[in-house]
Amino acid sequence: MSGPSSFVVRRLVPGDEDVFRAARLAALADAPDAFERTLAEELVLPPDAWTGRLARAANFALEHDGALRGLCACVPDDEREGSAFLMAMWVAPELRGTGAADALVHAALAQARAEGRRALRLHVGADNLRARRCYERCGFRLTGDGFVRARDGERELEMACPLDAPAPSGDLSGVRAGYDRWAAVYDHDGNPLVALEQPVVEAALGDVSGRTLLDLGCGTGRWALRLAARGAHVTALDFSPGMLAAARAKSGAHAVRFVEHDLRRPLPFADASFERVVSGLVLEHVHDLSAFFAEIARVLVPGGRAVVSGMHPACFLRGTWAHFDDPTSGETVHPGSVAHSIGDFVMAALRAGLRLDDVIERAPDEAFAREVPRAAKSVGFPLLVVLVLCEPDPPAE
Ligand SMILES: C[S@@+](CC[C@H](N)C(=O)[O-])C[C@H]1O[C@@H](n2cnc3c(N)ncnc32)[C@H](O)[C@@H]1O
Repeated sequence: MSGPSSFVVRRLVPGDEDVFRAARLAALADAPDAFERTLAEELVLPPDAWTGRLARAANFALEHDGALRGLCACVPDDEREGSAFLMAMWVAPELRGTGAADALVHAALAQARAEGRRALRLHVGADNLRARRCYERCGFRLTGDGFVRARDGERELEMACPLDAPAPSGDLSGVRAGYDRWAAVYDHDGNPLVALEQPVVEAALGDVSGRTLLDLGCGTGRWALRLAARGAHVTALDFSPGMLAAARAKSGAHAVRFVEHDLRRPLPFADASFERVVSGLVLEHVHDLSAFFAEIARVLVPGGRAVVSGMHPACFLRGTWAHFDDPTSGETVHPGSVAHSIGDFVMAALRAGLRLDDVIERAPDEAFAREVPRAAKSVGFPLLVVLVLCEPDPPAE
């Protein structure tokens, strides 16, 4: 399957009529139930109909290996003044699950924002759970409205994404470079999430002495070094050379095996090679949660435990996700985040075959805010979620 980096999304322009037509006909042939119009109707459209479509709407195409393998259109919303409507969404089967659909939706969101629209609306089949999850990741929510299609009695649900509220871009292409910059100040910026997380993850990990342990997205080695000092045999993985360099420069680093690796690729470790996995505050940088948890399940021994923490999804609704102030430029840098829900985390872990032992949510209280001043504005508001997972033992013979 192709990785997310191997495609590009571009707006179709006059002159693209032939490739546009070919991709649209492929979409209608592939998923006839997903569209209002039929392949038979569109096969006979005259050439100027395609020119007209390109002129009337912002049509986006996803290009992969030189061919158009995905489409969507962002059009003015006839029913809601000031809104735009996302339609004609299609991704070729071989690119489903790669982030291609999200890339198209983000192009439509960017278009609607650029046009000054207040919201982007769409209709999605009630049974099309994969599409619904994609739209939710991109910031859409069910509005409660919907209708039954006259053609086949199928129920369509309305979803909308408000555009006046901030949302993470979902673009993860700058995460590595962002963390390379963040490395210089990561350990010193008084991040309340880190302070909130530490005791929760520590308690969930339990005694790690003598255990093989993998730290995924180890950053500057906060967990790797602490757990190695407690007697764990730690392997720590990250894709940011800057963060890894900061970790390697710390006292105790010699006891840790550091590995530079991108979590979007399979882990470079054998099956059942770790008794514990820890991953601190990485989830918002992971697009494909299913692959992430499947790899954790694969490398854990039967009975092994994983403790995975992340910024609470409620923070995203409030307009907060990973960022830091670069002291050299004064700029606020967002390396790149994707909004998930707790349901996304839980279901991806369960589908990977992991057992869910606990889901812990934490909000700072007044006492915590006195210790960590940056938490003052978040008292009572959930900042942290931690999943405690177990690789089940095989069933007894
Ligand atoms: C918020 S930091 C957390 C660091 C450390 N786990 C901690 O809790 O202090 C997120 C880390 O995830 C790493 N990361 C993000 N996406 C990654 C990817 N695709 N592959 C490997 N590391 C990644 C970043 O480089 C960064 O070091």
